[in-house]
Amino acid sequence: MTHTKQSNWQFTGPNGEFSLKQPDRSSFLYFPLVNEGGMMSSVTPQLHGQVTSGHNTFLTPPLSVEDLHNSRASRNFWVYIDGKGAWSAAGNSARQHAQYYSEGADESLLEAGLLWHKITRENKQLGIKAEITSFVPAGSDKAELMKVILTNTGEEEIVVTPTAAIPLYARSADDLRDHRHVTSLLNRIYTSLYGVEVQPALSFDERGHRINYTSYGVFGAEEEGTQPAGFFPVQEEFVGEGGSLDWPEAVVLNAEPQAGCVGEAQRQGYEALGGIRFATAALKSGQSRSYVVVMAIAEERIDIAALMSKYGSAAAFDAHLDINKQYWTDKVNTVSFHTGDNDRDQWMKWVTLQPVLRRLYGNSFLPYHDYGRGGRGWRDLWQDCLALMIMEPEDVRSLLFNNYAGVRIDGSNATIIGQQPGEFIADRNNIPRVWMDHGAWPFMTTLLYLNQSGDLDFLLEEQTYFRDSFMSRCRERDSSWEPAAGSSLLADNGKIYKGTILEHILLQNLVPFFNVGGHNNILLEGADWNDGLDMAAQRGESVTFTAFYGDNLYELSGLLRTLKERNGSGTLELAEELVLLLDSLGDPVDYASVSAKQERLNRYYAAAPNRVSGVRAELELEQVADDLERKAEWIFGHLRSNEWVSSQEGGGWFNGYYNNDGERVEGETAEGIRMTLTGQVFPLLGHAASPEQIPQIITSVEKNLHDAKIGYRLNSDFGGIQQNLGRAFGFAFGHKENGAMFSHMTIMYGNALYKRGYVQEGYKVLDSLYSLSADFESSRMYPGIPEYINEQGRGMYTYLTGSASWLLLTMVTEVFGIKGRLGDLLLEPKLVKEQFDYAGKASIKTLFAGLELEVAYTAAGSTEYGEYQIHGVSLNGAVVTLQRVSEGVLIPRTVLNGLPKGQVHKLEVILN
Ligand code: G1P
Repeated sequence: MTHTKQSNWQFTGPNGEFSLKQPDRSSFLYFPLVNEGGMMSSVTPQLHGQVTSGHNTFLTPPLSVEDLHNSRASRNFWVYIDGKGAWSAAGNSARQHAQYYSEGADESLLEAGLLWHKITRENKQLGIKAEITSFVPAGSDKAELMKVILTNTGEEEIVVTPTAAIPLYARSADDLRDHRHVTSLLNRIYTSLYGVEVQPALSFDERGHRINYTSYGVFGAEEEGTQPAGFFPVQEEFVGEGGSLDWPEAVVLNAEPQAGCVGEAQRQGYEALGGIRFATAALKSGQSRSYVVVMAIAEERIDIAALMSKYGSAAAFDAHLDINKQYWTDKVNTVSFHTGDNDRDQWMKWVTLQPVLRRLYGNSFLPYHDYGRGGRGWRDLWQDCLALMIMEPEDVRSLLFNNYAGVRIDGSNATIIGQQPGEFIADRNNIPRVWMDHGAWPFMTTLLYLNQSGDLDFLLEEQTYFRDSFMSRCRERDSSWEPAAGSSLLADNGKIYKGTILEHILLQNLVPFFNVGGHNNILLEGADWNDGLDMAAQRGESVTFTAFYGDNLYELSGLLRTLKERNGSGTLELAEELVLLLDSLGDPVDYASVSAKQERLNRYYAAAPNRVSGVRAELELEQVADDLERKAEWIFGHLRSNEWVSSQEGGGWFNGYYNNDGERVEGETAEGIRMTLTGQVFPLLGHAASPEQIPQIITSVEKNLHDAKIGYRLNSDFGGIQQNLGRAFGFAFGHKENGAMFSHMTIMYGNALYKRGYVQEGYKVLDSLYSLSADFESSRMYPGIPEYINEQGRGMYTYLTGSASWLLLTMVTEVFGIKGRLGDLLLEPKLVKEQFDYAGKASIKTLFAGLELEVAYTAAGSTEYGEYQIHGVSLNGAVVTLQRVSEGVLIPRTVLNGLPKGQVHKLEVILN
């Protein structure tokens, strides 16, 4: 299957603005429009997409990506031209679809930026052009705005009658399949002077049948704010008997609309339509006329007068558009890059935006993201913080602190995250499932925070624990627990128990150490990072996350030693039950014995059965650090000697998994090579892979996983459905979690290579991510990084992906080497030749220590990594005395602390 040739988008402005010719010649394209107030829209070149403020409050029908070409229920803007008939300014009419491949087809151009979308469409035969701009205004209004400018591009005068037509679904996504018709009977439809509003009488969804207050509306005005001529509030009447939304009778026959009036609901019990008829107008050659359409959702009846006085004219629209552009530009420009390649720098602006989009949409509400209810999972919560620490650092401390309230006393955690900070909800489906990787991420994120801020006191803050009916990592139920008992862990005295953040972290990393399977690696449980490895809960093991936990234990031991140095105090207090897991302090466990580990863990579960005594043990920091280090070293030794796969053909790699039959998953077998990228990433990211093993892993990844067409695959072809491992292998090979280029793991691989000093190799990975995503002819996506690149090279699940956080983090902390070291600033650039501009310069603007810093590197000599080092640094023009450490140059926090906020401080760094 070959695609139609399609030229790439081009960047056109300094803030990520881009344009794309004939965007409707590519399928599945969509653009996000969103605000902090909770309006979440998506829009396609034909104005398809959806408009919603949550799972239960869709203004337009909820959709999946296939609906973008299957469904006719989209935003539309019709023009009836006297003597010429109906034309859709959105390109969405039966006639335009039929003309798609012929001469008379429209020409279209997309222009977009932060966060606005403009589509220009012209039909030369008809002599008409429409420019449609869409955005969701920054702020708290749940509104989406659209302005349409119609221009007569022909020689003769034309007479036009415009009609906006936006289906008002006005209810919960649950009703799409479940009682779609019956719920339309709930609709109470009001017309007024400006448009159509629906307030269903009841809402039918999983919460039961309740009085509904939420209202949904579509309103319109002509450019000076003039009210429309009339309305088509009922969908079936608009389309006509036997008609359809892409050839509606009311437009095609230019029917008379209904007049608007204020008061009682005019129509009840039908599928509604935001059908707005504007007055017929004559347009001379070259003359234009514009129309504003406002879509809104409100908690009660919409204050239409207020809404329209705010947005309902061309001038108001333009003013709010400018505010919106500024808002998003400021947000994204918190971090900016200047390298030798302006296109990449512009592309990074879209990547920088992505973590914010994920904070706002969760993992739902964009067309590929046709699942979930808007929440984010535990893993994503912590990883998204990595980027927010760079972009929105002021909120991070409390965010992290609140998140720790989700930890259970068995080291697992709540999986349903509530609306309020620190609110975790017991699983309503009551499905016992533990993702074994969940305990590993919080410390990684917290360590980044500690390094950026130096705020070691954070570790000693006290936080509650989460409790529900699951205990012993979902192996047992606490039959005494009821929702009414609340979801905080209690001590024996019945009071809510709190422990330090450090205690939470220790627990999350100590429990897994003992929770091992037959090969003495940590059990896979419900799955690890790869959600698709979900069919090996009994005997499966995640070797790769064993490496991650090992590394955490190692880093934690170092942190405890630092804590002792910094605070002078040599002890820490922990819940007494935890001492069982610090076995070498009292009664040591033989780490080589699987049963001894399991037995110790069972003793711990019995000692803290969804409850703690409340008694604290005071322990020597030094001894705890020694215990953790011993455990970490044991893991590293175990992995290096037992889980290394030596390749017959040179190279080698780490086995990443055991399946549910207790069999090793990876290796060179008679049926072929089985290898995962995930298996390599975590040993490389930390210390488990020894320095000698790194080049061998790189060789094997290049040989077994790198594919010139789609980049670094997540795994090789296992050739079967793997019922003893997980559903991922049910996906066709080359798709999603089975052998696609899964950006998240690829970028972590790149990050790991940089960390381990393999800079050229790391750059190759970053370069491949960029090249694949930005090659529009194959990827068919707008600028940004996709969740994955499929078999055909198409970018999938655009915008909402954790890989964006990791890419941003890697650019800032590895490529540009702007790192925190317990509050101090460490400069450790790993720029390669290609990243410097023609003058040998590369710079970054970012936040550090609450300051806006611009770090400008200038290579006085070679730009080749390895051939330069930091020669001199000046801060705002004054020379800084260099404090060299093995990794680079350290600038103490004290130097930065005195600097005024609210201005950009310039660090000039000479490399030579
Ligand atoms: C998604 C999930 C992430 C999970 C990954 C692999 O990745 O969000 O939690 O680990 O799939 O199953 P993302 O879309 O964030 O790249």
